[in-house]
Amino acid sequence: MRLDTHTHFLIDKKQEQPCYKSIKNIIKSCIISGIDGLCITEHREAVGYKNLMISLFKNNFIEGNNHEYYFLTTEGVKLFPAAEIQLENGSNIGVHAPLEVLLNLNNISGFYNLPTLHETLVREGKWFFLVAHHIFWPNKTYDNHHELAQYIHAIEVPAKDIRNIEKYINLANQFDLSTLGGSDSHTFIQIGACNTCIEESVESYPHPLLSEIEKKNKLHSYTPQSEILVELSKLYRSSIIQ
Ligand code: FE2
Repeated sequence: MRLDTHTHFLIDKKQEQPCYKSIKNIIKSCIISGIDGLCITEHREAVGYKNLMISLFKNNFIEGNNHEYYFLTTEGVKLFPAAEIQLENGSNIGVHAPLEVLLNLNNISGFYNLPTLHETLVREGKWFFLVAHHIFWPNKTYDNHHELAQYIHAIEVPAKDIRNIEKYINLANQFDLSTLGGSDSHTFIQIGACNTCIEESVESYPHPLLSEIEKKNKLHSYTPQSEILVELSKLYRSSIIQ
């Protein structure tokens, strides 16, 4: 089973309402690329975050099947609610938790530091896991790796920084953490450019990655096409953003 664990359904943080057609194209892109599921790590501070999550997971906006823990599209692709949080120090953390927990998070960029984000999630009393997103990307670093590793559960290997892959793997090895593959796609082109490959059946609840992360396995996967998809997506995105 392949999951892309870092995706965006909004073209940027200013898009207020989700676009039915672009989401349908993302689903088609998954089918073409052999991606079985997406974690929708939309920016929590995006103005359209709540609209997107409610449209998908509550109002059945794209006419699929709502499951207790995820949304199943009619084409068999599973969508998991998530969020990307920009911390006080500028680094980005993927939060995977039940929808109601995600909606309760503060939507101000930089509101949390990592200990307060973690504490907030623990207080909610539900399952969750945290992923360090593109942690070596300029201006997104978390320099205190020992502190970072105290609170997170996995290191993302990002499609957009595949040339530095060794840094991400070494960090995961140093702290005995899992690696996940994420595309950080904002368009259908980049979907799956880096992805997470697991044996586990999706029927493991509440999230198929929870048990995989516990095993601390290296789960990222990419191909020589990954960098090209990132660059093509960037070009396409710049052509449609006003
Ligand atoms: Fe992102």
